[in-house]
Amino acid sequence: MEKFYTTTAIDYVNGAPHIGHAYEKILTDVIYRHFTQRCDNTYFLTGTDEHGIKIQKTSAQNGVSPKEFCDMNAQKFKDAWKALDVEYSQFIRTTDEQHEKVVQKIFKKLVEKGDIYKHAYEGLYCSGCEAFLSEKDLTEDGLCPDHLKKPEVVKEENYFFKLTKYKDAIIKHIKTHPDFIVPSFRANEVLNQLENIEDISVSRVNSNVSWGIPVLGDDSQVIYVWIDALSNYITAIGYDPDGSSEKFEKLWPANVQVIGKDILKFHSIYWLAILMALELPLPEHILAHGWITIDQTKMSKSLGNVISPTGVLEAFNLEIPDPLRYYMAAAAPCGKDGNYSDEDFKEKVNAHLANSMGNLLNRTLSMLVKYFGGDIKPEFLGKNELKEKALETVKAVKHHFDYFEVQEAGQKIIELVDITNKYVTDNAPWTLAKEGQMDKCGEVLTNVLQVMTVISSLIYPYCPNIAKAMAEQLSYDLNTKLDDITCESLQAGHLIDKQNIKPVFLRMDSELADKGAAHAGK
Ligand code: MSP
Repeated sequence: MEKFYTTTAIDYVNGAPHIGHAYEKILTDVIYRHFTQRCDNTYFLTGTDEHGIKIQKTSAQNGVSPKEFCDMNAQKFKDAWKALDVEYSQFIRTTDEQHEKVVQKIFKKLVEKGDIYKHAYEGLYCSGCEAFLSEKDLTEDGLCPDHLKKPEVVKEENYFFKLTKYKDAIIKHIKTHPDFIVPSFRANEVLNQLENIEDISVSRVNSNVSWGIPVLGDDSQVIYVWIDALSNYITAIGYDPDGSSEKFEKLWPANVQVIGKDILKFHSIYWLAILMALELPLPEHILAHGWITIDQTKMSKSLGNVISPTGVLEAFNLEIPDPLRYYMAAAAPCGKDGNYSDEDFKEKVNAHLANSMGNLLNRTLSMLVKYFGGDIKPEFLGKNELKEKALETVKAVKHHFDYFEVQEAGQKIIELVDITNKYVTDNAPWTLAKEGQMDKCGEVLTNVLQVMTVISSLIYPYCPNIAKAMAEQLSYDLNTKLDDITCESLQAGHLIDKQNIKPVFLRMDSELADKGAAHAGK
C-alpha cells in the first residue's frame, strides 16, 4: 500500500462532543493506527463544521458572536480527542481562511461549468439536518423524522447544483463498485434515494443565513453548509481549482471516509456529484458506521442521557483512555448500531484487558523472573509452538481491517489471548518447574512471551498506551510493521528484572466504577 488517507465527518460545534462523536473518532483512529502499521505514508483528517443557521442561532442564544462560539466549542473537540489519544494528522475548521477561499473557488468553478444555476425556490428546511426536506420525508405530523421538529418554510432565490446530471454516473459507480459503500447492505438504501433525486439548492439568501461563506461576486448569497463542509476533505490537504498542492496529489483520493449512517446520503450522492463535477477521482470507500445508544436509548439532551467521553474517563478515574477506546471500537459489528452502558464497559474491559491480557503478561514475566531470574536461555527459543496461531491471527486481523471490521478484528486478538491463556493452563509451567522440567518450563514461558509481542502489536491501534507498556517490558519494538512480524523477536539473554514488571492495566475498581455509573453522564 503506497499511502493511506482517512477522514471523519466534521462535527457541528453547537455543543460539546458526546460519546457518539467519540465513537467515530476512535473508530477512525483505530483504523488509521492499524494502517500506520502497514504503510509509511498515512494521513488522518478530522475537524469541525462551523457555518450554518444552527450555529448562527445557537451562538445568538448564548449571546456571543458565531466566531467566538465556534472558537470555544472547537477547542472542546480538540481537547476531547487529545484526552482519547485520537492521533489525527490535521484538524480542519471550516472557518479556516484557506478553506473558505478554496470553497469560494470551487463554487465559482461549478458556476462557470454550468453545473450551478440560479432559481427561485420554496421548500421546507430543517436546521437540525441543515437540509431541505420534501413532504414525503416528514412524519405523519409533518416533523423531521430525525429531529422531531417542524421544518421552516423557506422561499428564496438560490443557486442550484445540477445533481440530476450526475445521477446515472453515481448509480453506475455504486453498482460497479460493490465495496464502495461499507457495509454493502447500505448501498440499496442509497440506490433507492437516487431514484428520486432532484437538483439541490446550494446557497442561502444572506438576509436569512448570514453565518456562512459568501458566494464570490454575489454577496447576497452564502454557500450551502453541506457544500462548504464536504469540501473540507480536499481543501484541507491542498486542493485548489487553480492548482493543487503536491500533498493533495499524493493523498487524494481518500482510502476510507468514515461517517455515521445518518449522513450517508450526503457522502454517497452529493459528495460524489461534487467530485465528478470537479473532475476529481472518487474516494475508495465510504464507511457508514451505526449509531451509539445509551442503555439502549437514543441519546438526547431532553432525556438528559448525553454521555461525555471525557466525563467517562474522569468518572472511572482512568489515567489512560485505552479502556474506553477498546470498548468503543468493539461496540458494534461493522456498520451496525452499538450501545454504551457503564456496567458493560466495566465488565468487558476488566475481563478482556485486565483479567485475560494484562494478567497473562504479568504472570508469565513473574514466572520467568521466579524460575530463571528473568533470563531467556538460547535452548528455550527453538520450539515456538504458538507461532502458527499467532501469525494466522495477524493475517486474520489484517483481513478484517481491509473491510474495516474493527470489532471483528478485536475479537480475533482476544481469541489469541484466550488460546494463549489456555496454553499456559494446559502446560502448567509452575508444575513443570516443581517437577524440575526446567527446559520445558522455560520453553513454555518463552512461547507465551513471543506471542505477547505479537499481541502488543495487534492491540496497539485500540490501546496504544497499554501496548507500549507491554512492548517495553518485552523489549519489543512496537514500530515493527505487521508484515515483518515473525513471532520470533525475543532474543536469548536477560529480559526483565522483578521491579520492571508492572501490571499493564489494573481492573477498574468496582467502588470507583460504581461512582462512575453515577457520574459518567455529567
Ligand atoms: N457536520 C455534519 C457532518 C459534515 S461531514 C462533511 C454532522 N455533524 S454532527 O456533529 O451532527 O455529527 C458528526 C458525526 O457524528 C456524524 O458522522 C454522525 O453520524 C456522528 N454521530 C452523531 N451522533 C452519533 C451517535 N449517537 N452515535 C454514533 N455516531 C453519531 O453531521
